[in-house]
Amino acid sequence: MSKKRIGILTSGGDCPGLNAVIRGAVKASGQLGYECVGFLKGYEGLYDPVRYINLTPKNTTGILNQGGTILGSTNKGRFAATVGVADRVELDPDLLAGVQTTINQLGIEGLVCVGGDGSLAVAQQFHEFGIPVVGVPKTIDNDLSATAFTFGFDSAIDCATNALDRLHTTAASHERIMVLEVMGRHAGWIALHAGIAGGGDVILIPEIPWTYEDVCHKILDRESQCKRFTLVVVAEGAELPQGGRVGEAQSGAQERLGGIGQIVAAEIERRLHRETRTSVLGHLQRGGAPTTFDRVLATQYGAHAVRLVLEGRFGEMVCYHPPEIQNVPIIEAVNKLRQVEPYGSAVQAARALGVSFGDQVAEESPFAMQIETSKAATANEVELDADFVLDLAEAGAEEALS
Ligand code: F6P
Repeated sequence: MSKKRIGILTSGGDCPGLNAVIRGAVKASGQLGYECVGFLKGYEGLYDPVRYINLTPKNTTGILNQGGTILGSTNKGRFAATVGVADRVELDPDLLAGVQTTINQLGIEGLVCVGGDGSLAVAQQFHEFGIPVVGVPKTIDNDLSATAFTFGFDSAIDCATNALDRLHTTAASHERIMVLEVMGRHAGWIALHAGIAGGGDVILIPEIPWTYEDVCHKILDRESQCKRFTLVVVAEGAELPQGGRVGEAQSGAQERLGGIGQIVAAEIERRLHRETRTSVLGHLQRGGAPTTFDRVLATQYGAHAVRLVLEGRFGEMVCYHPPEIQNVPIIEAVNKLRQVEPYGSAVQAARALGVSFGDQVAEESPFAMQIETSKAATANEVELDADFVLDLAEAGAEEALS
């Protein structure tokens, strides 16, 4: 065997930017005199049967802006190292030994595993078995610990924001309530960010318990300001007020979520007798070209992963802590989630704008304190400046008519 080799695979649900990682890794490997091998269909291609292709700068040309993955992927099969998020499942030692043999026979110095929580949990077990791996974090849900951003997330929120922009105009024309269901299995990042960027009025996420009363209250409150349409964004993984998530159990795979949007819409219609429609964005969020941000992040991840192999930093994962790409042990990223912080700045900013999370802000919450302070400040100004009051009244009237 003439040259040293690096292996790469993409595992779990796909997302925009996977091809950009592959291209980045292939180009960076080439510069360092390495050959690159791409295993097909995630971890499945590693053993029985071994399926791979040689990756070259030539056959990865033009894939930077392509959605999906040229290597294929799967989120089921023999390589499942978790049940849900927290529980570890031991991989079959024969399977691990088989993978080890493949890696040795192909002369692979390091294997770059691109995946989300479940896939990185597999990489962690490979590492413990002695298989040389490095990780690259991926998921549109952005719920992985140890990194501020996974690639794919920015493309997904771009898609969801676009959808909200479109729903906005039709909602306004027909004076309807529009419910948009977006992905987000355990975390509400997509709903939160798209909701803010797309001017959502109500955002329902797994991290904040909500009630129909509060959702309806927000709709009526808008109506009292002559705003006769409302945009509700709901994450697929949000819990219903009566408990439980909406989806179908799957044998040998994680529950297939979906349907909460329809349930929320039906209940709003039942309670308020207002025309309500639902759109489910589903896998549109996972497809298509990556955004500029995701291309840059994914390319850096690919190049940095190759550097980790070169430095022999196995068992580590690339991560992004703005402004730098860094690395952490894979174990720090798996089996724990990075969820939306209910009192974090994004939620607070949304609340400050009047966005409802379908809850009543608790008296003792930092946000409630902030409202009290700003109420006091407004009262002061009103007392001091009569023109200001007039301006405010005019602005309010204009807004109500817009
Ligand atoms: O984990 C990413 C994700 O997009 C989730 O938000 C969603 O529940 C899941 O993948 C759907 O996966 P699939 O339909 O590919 O099984």
